[in-house]
Amino acid sequence: MHADNWAIKAKQDGYRTRAVYKLDEIVQKTKVLKKAKHILDLGSAPGGWAHYIKQKSKISDVYAIDILDMEPVEGVHFFKKSIEEIDDIELIKSFMGKFDLVISDIAPNLTGISAVDTENIYELNDLTISTASRYLNQKSGSMIMKTFQNNKLKGLRKKMELSFKIVQTFKPAASKKQSGEIFLYGANR
Ligand SMILES: C[S@@+](CC[C@H](N)C(=O)[O-])C[C@H]1O[C@@H](n2cnc3c(N)ncnc32)[C@H](O)[C@@H]1O
Repeated sequence: MHADNWAIKAKQDGYRTRAVYKLDEIVQKTKVLKKAKHILDLGSAPGGWAHYIKQKSKISDVYAIDILDMEPVEGVHFFKKSIEEIDDIELIKSFMGKFDLVISDIAPNLTGISAVDTENIYELNDLTISTASRYLNQKSGSMIMKTFQNNKLKGLRKKMELSFKIVQTFKPAASKKQSGEIFLYGANR
């Protein structure tokens, strides 16, 4: 399906972004949502993923952060904060080590200078992995993280392999081929 058609489908289905179909494909294939209660959504605005999770799972309790504002999503606890400041959010901190799932669609503003963008993406992804490792349940937690195909990807995957037994790469059908974006999934069971 063409990218525009995913956008039309999102509108028809009542979702805020077509990004939900990328998450949906990974969720369907991994069944990661089945038992996940405490879920942390990093880089959540405008709220497509958070809304999707609340629709698909009755048991989910979603905590979301973004540096941008986000229109409220029913049942989602939103905080306008950077991932760098996550430890300042008392409510989220109170669940440290107890999250079942961390999802991250965080992306930096692109400069167009390839080396700079690659470095910025790596730094944010690296911080996302270490944040997820601290906030997830060590035994059963899983994460889904957006990243990009570049020369730092192998290193990033290796880093995830230090925290997760299973690491898989996904390129969902709804993700534009030319975008270079891909998703890393990490799980411990
Ligand atoms: C592609 S959008 C997320 C879309 C979202 N998953 C959805 O379905 O609606 C990426 C988001 O990452 C956020 N972001 C970028 N840097 C961030 C940071 N340091 N901390 C938190 N959020 C950040 C951006 O503000 C942007 O809203």
